[in-house]
Amino acid sequence: MEFIKLKDEKECSKFVAGEIIKLVKNNKKANLGLATGSTPIQTYKYLIEDFNQNKTNWKKIKTFNLDEYLGLPAGHKQSYKVFMSEMLFEGISIKPKNVFFPNTDQNYDKLIASEGGIDFQLLGIGTNGHIGFNEPGSELESLTRIVDLTEETINVNANKFFDGDTTEVPKQAISMGLKSILEAKKIVLLALGESKREVVSKLLDCKEFDINFPASALTLHDDVTIIYDEEASI
Ligand code: F6R
Repeated sequence: MEFIKLKDEKECSKFVAGEIIKLVKNNKKANLGLATGSTPIQTYKYLIEDFNQNKTNWKKIKTFNLDEYLGLPAGHKQSYKVFMSEMLFEGISIKPKNVFFPNTDQNYDKLIASEGGIDFQLLGIGTNGHIGFNEPGSELESLTRIVDLTEETINVNANKFFDGDTTEVPKQAISMGLKSILEAKKIVLLALGESKREVVSKLLDCKEFDINFPASALTLHDDVTIIYDEEASI
């Protein structure tokens, strides 16, 4: 794993957006694996800014989101489909038919493989070390499946996105598994802010897979970059 520490959210997001833009320009049919949550929001703003300024062509790019809540009504403002539309898709020239989310009616891993696999996987990280919604205890061999969210994840997401109301947060989601994530050709994990200090420090020390720290699965991939800011650093 390569670690790159940059000053702040702005610098980190510019860096990650720059990597994505380079890929989209060099490979007009690239497949991107995308994350939701607070971490990539600024990165997505830079992608939209670049699209407005440089008309980067997203028409043949395909995106595959990591996860989606289960149990929210379609069109709910906290569903990841709505989040992605508002934060990114409406601001670039991506085709609606080229954006994919996991759902219970399809085999997401087969779908991704049949589209040629993911070229670039963007990840955030939970305060408990989850990637996607692979909570502690997730198996290394896990594929896309229904998962139970931990109390910690429900609390964190309630405070960030559901006005602190834990009863509004779905208790389950569908998430790409650790194996699904490790299939990507390149992985970039972004960690921002003080709340990620502990997990960044754990990642820096991490040498092998530990089932209680799902992000440790990334030690098994040979092209992983961890971008973090000064606040996330001890
Ligand atoms: C989101 C996802 C999660 C988040 C993680 C961090 O699609 O897969 O793993 O990346 O929960 O969330 P934030 O960015 O809100 O701190």
